[in-house]
Amino acid sequence: MCGIIGITRGPGTAGRGTDAQPGEGGGVDQVLGVLLEGLARLEYRGYDSAGLALVGPPDGDGMWRARAANGIRSLDDLTKRAESAPRGATAGIGHTRWATHGRPSEENAHPHADCSGRMALVHNGIIENHIELADELIAEGHLLESETDSEVLAHLIESRLAADPGTGLTGAVRAALGRVRGAFALAVVHSDQPDLIVAARRVSPLLMGLADDATFLASDIPAILGHTRDFFVLEDDEIAELRPGSIRVTAPDGTEVDPAPLHVDWDLDAARKDGYPDFMSKEIHEQPRAVADTLLDRLLPDGTLVLDEVRITNEEFRAINKVFIVACGSSYHAGLMAKYAIEHWARLPVEIDIASEFRYRNPVLDEHTLVIGVSQSGETVDTFQAIREAGKLGAKVLVISNVLDSSMAREADAVLYTRAGPEIGVAATKTHLAQITALEILALYLAQARETLSPADARAMLGAMGVLPDKVATALERASDVEAVAEAYRDSPSFIFLGRQVGYPVALEGALKLKELSYLRAEGFPAGELKHGPIALVEEGTVVIGVATRTPVWEKMMGNVAEVKSRGATVVLVANDGDEETARHADAVLWVPETEYLFAPIVDVVPLQLFAYSLARLHGHDVDRPRNLAKTVTVE
Ligand code: M6R
Repeated sequence: MCGIIGITRGPGTAGRGTDAQPGEGGGVDQVLGVLLEGLARLEYRGYDSAGLALVGPPDGDGMWRARAANGIRSLDDLTKRAESAPRGATAGIGHTRWATHGRPSEENAHPHADCSGRMALVHNGIIENHIELADELIAEGHLLESETDSEVLAHLIESRLAADPGTGLTGAVRAALGRVRGAFALAVVHSDQPDLIVAARRVSPLLMGLADDATFLASDIPAILGHTRDFFVLEDDEIAELRPGSIRVTAPDGTEVDPAPLHVDWDLDAARKDGYPDFMSKEIHEQPRAVADTLLDRLLPDGTLVLDEVRITNEEFRAINKVFIVACGSSYHAGLMAKYAIEHWARLPVEIDIASEFRYRNPVLDEHTLVIGVSQSGETVDTFQAIREAGKLGAKVLVISNVLDSSMAREADAVLYTRAGPEIGVAATKTHLAQITALEILALYLAQARETLSPADARAMLGAMGVLPDKVATALERASDVEAVAEAYRDSPSFIFLGRQVGYPVALEGALKLKELSYLRAEGFPAGELKHGPIALVEEGTVVIGVATRTPVWEKMMGNVAEVKSRGATVVLVANDGDEETARHADAVLWVPETEYLFAPIVDVVPLQLFAYSLARLHGHDVDRPRNLAKTVTVE
């Protein structure tokens, strides 16, 4: 999830930014000012690096480009470098990066240029077939300087322009995108056409904005809300030509289309949250995208799985005889969910431990053990120390992380990145779903390497994975129904969460979310364990929330539901759409679509996140910053 910004204005247009830019004798350079201000607003989308390219400055030499990669200080560094930028550019593009392909570095920072240095491009998304395209371009004589998938696009466009100069920049972009698989939002400038920006998108977001004398583009509304309130949405596979005060959009076949207008009257703070009241609800609703992006380019059309970042060979995978998962909090629950999938498909024994406990026992590990550290931040000190210890004991260490080049990613033998984008709310939501997705991919990968799953079964599972983003989206459509259930039980002082098998970690996660957001007592139990003690907590009116979707243990689960109901509990059940038999045993139902049972946690946990979120809001709590908690825990 990177951020893109662009502006084009006519050469005769007076600047009208608000902050005087250095080097202009106290005047204002509108293009540079808009880009730097927009990048500051887009920084939440990633700050591994920042960069910009300008075209058309009268005293410049065609194109001027600057990039900086210094973590959180990248934009400050870029702003300093921009002090020496030529003034009076007619158009420019900028980018703030959240690294996926290629570590955070200046070479990997956007904008990327073509071989001539006259064209520059910024990209957000993932080009799935970049390796194949790069091979072709290198054979043609192009010099690629970065490790990114994005740079390939710049050279591909250059190659198309050289093959057919009459096609123009727009035609070359269209021809290049015809070769590309994956997701993209991109903006391209060329010093030969200094008032033109060509933009295109598929899946990744891109908006355009129009003012009298200038035209803008950005990954989100807040980046340019200070300059216009009149936006246009670029749809998948459309290409736009932005010129000062005008936008022309064409469909994939080249026919002109009218882009959908969008007038925005929100204030800036509301816009940063995309119209959601807080970051947590925004992030909850970004979950279909987080799951889809985590799956992207890892499932090949022929049904095989590819994990490029895993630097452990199939021979080494085959030699593994035990898996050990270490993690904390929601990441631990994701690991627990994956245990079932790894054991079932890959036929490997899986042990799992809370990371802070792992280091203080004497775990039995050797070079045939695969230790999986799960951490969205990749910085949690308990998990970091656990994987370091595992490495010392000779185990192979694989990390699942949402942050490229995090401490844990650097420590591990292999990394599998989730692609949820930055998560601002303290409660893990979209990163949690992305973790489960990544772990399920890994489970199938292990099964593939160990040949424990037939190709037909593997294909069936891959098919079921492909529709998970839609199922998560369907579960999210019921947010207002979940809110009504939360409203009904808002005065309950405590909650018991129950689940069996894959539903058990879902129950634990539901209880954790409720505790951390609403500050109410909430405990998760394996439903079958209840009668060994915890059932003593149940009395008339105790609210019990059960995960009762159709997994192989549904009947057993319903037996446990009957046990609490007969002792006076009020029962809320997570049930599959249309399952009236389950609904008959519940006082309220949280409906979710049915899915292959080993993937069910990805869908079933969604209403429990929404329930905790709604209850916390009903109690007037700050859902983005719950008390006593930090997003990343770097103390033991
Ligand atoms: O960054 P990590 O995934 O290692 O963080 C682990 C836990 O601190 C985290 O999941 C925590 O439990 C969340 N606040 C849960 O919402």
